[in-house]
Amino acid sequence: SEACSVIPEPWRFDCYPERGVVVTKEMCEARNCCFIPASSSLPPSRRNGIPWCFYPQEFPSYSLVSLNDTSLGQKGQLVREVKTYYPGDILNLELEIRHETDTRLRVRITDPSNSRFEVPITVPNATEKAESPAYTVELSKEPFGLIVKRKNILICNLNTTVAPLFYADQFLQFSSSLPSQFIYGLGEHRSSFLHDVQWNTLTMWARDEMTNLYGAHPFYLAMEEGGNAYGLFLLNSNAMDVVLQPAPAVTWRTIGGILDFYIFLGPDPGSVIEQYQEVIGFPAMPIYWALGYHLCRWGYGSSNATWEVVKKMRNSGTPQDAQWNDIDYMNHFMDFTFDPANFATLPDLVKDLHAHDQRYVMILDPGISSTQAEGSYWPYDEGLRRGVFINDSDGNTLIGKVWPGLTAYPDFSDHVTHEWWYDNLKSFHEKVPFDGLWIDMNEPSNFLDGSTKGCPSNSLENPPYTPGVLGGLLRGKTVCASAQHKHSLHYNMHSLYGLMEAKASRIVGKRPFVISRSTFPSHGMYSGHWLGDNRSHWKDLYTSIAGILTFNILGIPLVGADICGFSEQPQEELCVRWTQLGAFYPFTRNHNAIDMKPQDPTAFSSLAGTAMKQALLLRYSLFPLLYTLFHHAHVHGHTVARPLMFEFPNDTKTYGIDRQFLWGSGLLITPVLDPGVNYVVGYFPEGLWYDYYTGNSVRSKGEDMRLPAPLDQINLHLREGTITPTQTPNLTLWVSSGQPLHLVSALSEDGSASGDLFWDDGESIDTYETNQYAYIVFSVSQVKYLATLTVSAVLVTSDLLHNHAPICSLRSADANLMVIPKTHRKTWGDKAFSVAAPSLWKFPYLITF
Ligand code: GLC
Repeated sequence: SEACSVIPEPWRFDCYPERGVVVTKEMCEARNCCFIPASSSLPPSRRNGIPWCFYPQEFPSYSLVSLNDTSLGQKGQLVREVKTYYPGDILNLELEIRHETDTRLRVRITDPSNSRFEVPITVPNATEKAESPAYTVELSKEPFGLIVKRKNILICNLNTTVAPLFYADQFLQFSSSLPSQFIYGLGEHRSSFLHDVQWNTLTMWARDEMTNLYGAHPFYLAMEEGGNAYGLFLLNSNAMDVVLQPAPAVTWRTIGGILDFYIFLGPDPGSVIEQYQEVIGFPAMPIYWALGYHLCRWGYGSSNATWEVVKKMRNSGTPQDAQWNDIDYMNHFMDFTFDPANFATLPDLVKDLHAHDQRYVMILDPGISSTQAEGSYWPYDEGLRRGVFINDSDGNTLIGKVWPGLTAYPDFSDHVTHEWWYDNLKSFHEKVPFDGLWIDMNEPSNFLDGSTKGCPSNSLENPPYTPGVLGGLLRGKTVCASAQHKHSLHYNMHSLYGLMEAKASRIVGKRPFVISRSTFPSHGMYSGHWLGDNRSHWKDLYTSIAGILTFNILGIPLVGADICGFSEQPQEELCVRWTQLGAFYPFTRNHNAIDMKPQDPTAFSSLAGTAMKQALLLRYSLFPLLYTLFHHAHVHGHTVARPLMFEFPNDTKTYGIDRQFLWGSGLLITPVLDPGVNYVVGYFPEGLWYDYYTGNSVRSKGEDMRLPAPLDQINLHLREGTITPTQTPNLTLWVSSGQPLHLVSALSEDGSASGDLFWDDGESIDTYETNQYAYIVFSVSQVKYLATLTVSAVLVTSDLLHNHAPICSLRSADANLMVIPKTHRKTWGDKAFSVAAPSLWKFPYLITF
């Protein structure tokens, strides 16, 4: 009909999203929707995904029947007269609009008569209405719609009038137009950094497969025309689809919980991310050695074989802060045990690591073996006694299958489980004094679908609509959706499992070090993340950058990919290039699958080994910068590995860049991502850029540049105006942190530069919060050929306050201050300005010059 054909293809909102059915005209019209096959004039690639069955303009939705002012904004009532084609429509809803801050709007749509599941994470509790919000909110009554615009510019950040609102018990959906096609976030998926909006469905339901990957992050960052950015976070943990379409528009489709979302107005990308983290929580400050080099593999086979590698690394002079073990250290893959034969020397290995200022991390999987003789395996016996395991829908312990065979799954939603988990950690720590934890398989992963008994047949297991999860079943390779946690059903809690386990996995005393596979918003407060199983392929080297950048915008800056690739065998060249890029992952770990040949830096030719060692030494020399960036992540929610568009939001050429990235605002990393090349092309935003190794500068108009890229070096450039603190590297961060500090100043055209340094003891909890740190600001100004460095200490321990007072001023003529010259007058190799060695991580941190 006319009403259907006026809707352009990019604006069709899918009325029949069910998978695996061929939708006919009859089926579509039974839903009162428009049926028009996609025009065959389009190439097949563009035709893919265009809905043939879509909502007409007049498709029944909710009406806004009342609206009242509240102390935070408004409250209204929504009513639906006509039921949808899904069961359990909730016909009366409550709408609440909260103007929480000037840049943060919150909208909640709830069922006033029945309480529904809400995600149990702590979010700020706003008490006063924002005074001068950066947004305006308009409501349309019939049908109900919500329009949020950026004030003054009147760009639409949200316009839900484009499609009907659904709010059935197991099907909640709203759509909105987008102000541009530039949209990021929405993890966890393996894709380019910038999402494709050509009918792209991103499914969220934690799983150890590509379609719906390990974590669930219903948050996006998007750009507007004119360089402003904003974000949207749907606080919902149920299985969901997020559909991007070329209008451009987005549809959120979830099968439980409530609709509770935030809009962040930025206006620049960095501020959006900060505002998002004000809601979900800022990431923890990592313990210093978390930022060193970590070596791991599955299949060392014995503690002595592991030890041999550690020794080879030391002998080769390659930096290494932590040695890891995978499941092969365990006795029959059981948590909190170690193999008494092959890993008999594990406690000695750990002692030896400690004696060399190195650390030990081992894997733990959540599944607890349920088949040991009674009295022989405390974790299971005691777990049963305390009732810590997830139950099936009949209230019996749910049994699945993981590495140790049949297993029960701890229910981390309950504090009793946390205590039991901690008791296990503590008694294992008495035998093997490990320093950190790698928590894997916590989607949670199951080799069976559901349980040994399968799952019951009910609406939780077979919801009216199932998002695009792999295999089409929620229970696929995990526990039953109808399984029971103390807090709620697994149907609701599934994607929170990794977060809840990370919260429980703490070793007291020092900053915990935990790396988790499954994640959810707010995870950064408790642990870091690695990007899971990849392959030793060049393509996986490339996609790792998008993964790293995405997790930095999701508030989990401590993130890395398996360097040199997990499965398959890397060529030497790939492993060298990967170690060079990996040296700039915020979290740097080489990990390898069982049965693969060794791929640690000592396993290759001396040429390759040296190149890898150089890359790692370079990372260690940049540790003061990296540590300072993590401080800003922890305190302000800044990104550590930063997309170029964050620093250059007005340069649209940066919007799609995911082959390069920055550390902070000033260090540009341009890795080689292809085999057999000795050059690399990188984009240089407008300005002056200095080659990190030679000090040579180039002025870019905002253009691609072809750079030499010999196998033994990764391209690094410093942005004008920045001061980078560095130090002489050594085999461990403990040792190198005692070395003199150098400042590398990249002067801007006007001869100025600035930078900062955060320093503390590296491992105590809450040093910033308790004023046990030093924060120092450097600035340089150059007049003619003489540069003056001014050092200001903002805070040096609690009893020695200097509020931005300059504590010293140095001229380049007096000190060995190294300034990267605009021309090439000085050579790069000069000894830099040095701050006398701080006594190793100890207070008081005295600065003498
Ligand atoms: C999973 C992990 C991988 C680990 C393996 C054995 O596949 O993702 O990193 O090596 O399990 O524990």
